[in-house]
Amino acid sequence: MPGLRAPVVIVLGSGWRDVTQGFGTLATLPYADLPGLGATQVAGHAGQLVRAECGGGEVLIFVGRRHWYEGVGWGPVALPVALACGLGAKAIVLTNSAGGVREGLLPGSLMVIDDHINAMGVNPLVGSHDPAWGPRFPDMSCVYDSDLRSRLDAAARRAAVPVTHGVYLAVSGPSYETPAEIRAFRKLGADAVGMSTVPEAILAHAAGLRVAGLSCITNAAAGLTESLSHREVLERAAAALPAMTAVLREFVALTVKEGTP
Ligand code: HPA
Repeated sequence: MPGLRAPVVIVLGSGWRDVTQGFGTLATLPYADLPGLGATQVAGHAGQLVRAECGGGEVLIFVGRRHWYEGVGWGPVALPVALACGLGAKAIVLTNSAGGVREGLLPGSLMVIDDHINAMGVNPLVGSHDPAWGPRFPDMSCVYDSDLRSRLDAAARRAAVPVTHGVYLAVSGPSYETPAEIRAFRKLGADAVGMSTVPEAILAHAAGLRVAGLSCITNAAAGLTESLSHREVLERAAAALPAMTAVLREFVALTVKEGTP
């Protein structure tokens, strides 16, 4: 993809891949052709890098992500963030599907991530210090940029899509949580739970990118529903696709208009 400039990078999580249909695709590259990323093994993740146009600006979309639970180490998980930095991006939007931990957070809702709890038991910055990821002990007081959170709100208003805000808690997966874990997570202050996003958010914030996060609540978390399955997660995300697409399109259009990623 010669001449690529990417002020904004979007990472699409489980069930979000068809959001790209709302953008004008300029070029695509399979992950298998991206050294260090490799084909994603998770259903619902296309495994494609898409260069797209929206609102008169360009955006780079990672359609699918690699996860810690795939056992491939941090390299493929971190690569989209590293590429975003290398291509001069100023902002990264991380999307995911998540279980609703907060009572009343219904499947199909969109949640702007205000903050996170890392309950993965691991941190992508463990290891010898690489200055590319900022200081040895990066501050995490405000991971999710407040201007970008407001911009997501404005985008949702323009798209006439209701959004809520909350705290996303990440577990390593791949097993879903037990009802007892969900009760504990609720007491800890979690509104939603998932198996991604937090590692990329830590890395991106440490590296100086502005970070935004958007969850699609695809199911009530364990104990609030009878059972959980990835199939249900993908079906619910598919039903929310028009809302997800509209919010991200308006977000990119607003970013282009304001001229400040
Ligand atoms: N738990 C963990 N990850 C998830 C969930 C969940 O309930 N839903 C979608 N991703």
